[in-house]
Amino acid sequence: MITIALAKGRMQDDALALLARAGVCLNEDARNSRRLAIADESGKYRFVFVKPADVPVYVEHGIADCGVVGRDVLLESQADLLLPLDLAIARCRIVVAAADPEIMTRSLGMLRVATKYSRIAATHFGTRGIPVEIIQLSGSVELAPALGLSDLIVDLVETGRTLRENGLSVVEEIAESTGRLVVNRASYQLKSEPITALVKALGAVVNGEERA
Ligand code: PRP
Repeated sequence: MITIALAKGRMQDDALALLARAGVCLNEDARNSRRLAIADESGKYRFVFVKPADVPVYVEHGIADCGVVGRDVLLESQADLLLPLDLAIARCRIVVAAADPEIMTRSLGMLRVATKYSRIAATHFGTRGIPVEIIQLSGSVELAPALGLSDLIVDLVETGRTLRENGLSVVEEIAESTGRLVVNRASYQLKSEPITALVKALGAVVNGEERA
């Protein structure tokens, strides 16, 4: 059996739809259930639904053979995983945003940056030689500037609506992110046949080459 860790939340439905087109299907009862570990219809695959940041942890430790998770999470985690496929789902950008778009040129002091992505933010500002204080949050990061907790945020933007509705705009883009298939290194050797078949089937779906 192949265990696939799926990120709960924004990517879950698109990931399940893609896997279904590649022949790995959950029946409706399973999709609607609150169980966090569920076998697919064929009994060859088991899904585990975990928080996005935990997908690389389960896959790196070999508890899950594969996973589907955003590049944003992978850049933050730096886990040692194989990345055979860009699934082209949940496309978004990791950006620096602020209420005052000129703040980085105007400010002379140390800027405070609120984010869920402290490693990405530290690397981004570190490589540019801009001293910042990183304030780690777990969500609703767009609130921080309005409440005076930070000058800037580093966060995901998909439609831009959350930024707009909280009076923020993009100052600079750090990276693009899409959903990625990740594979445990040992699983790739030990279960090479089924994993290669899964990568191939998903690749065909992503490239629009699937057979009707
Ligand atoms: C993400 C992200 C933004 C929002 C961006 O939050 O952190 O808040 O989506 O989407 P938009 O550009 O389409 O408005 P998520 O829903 O993952 O939850 P979070 O607030 O816990 O980070």
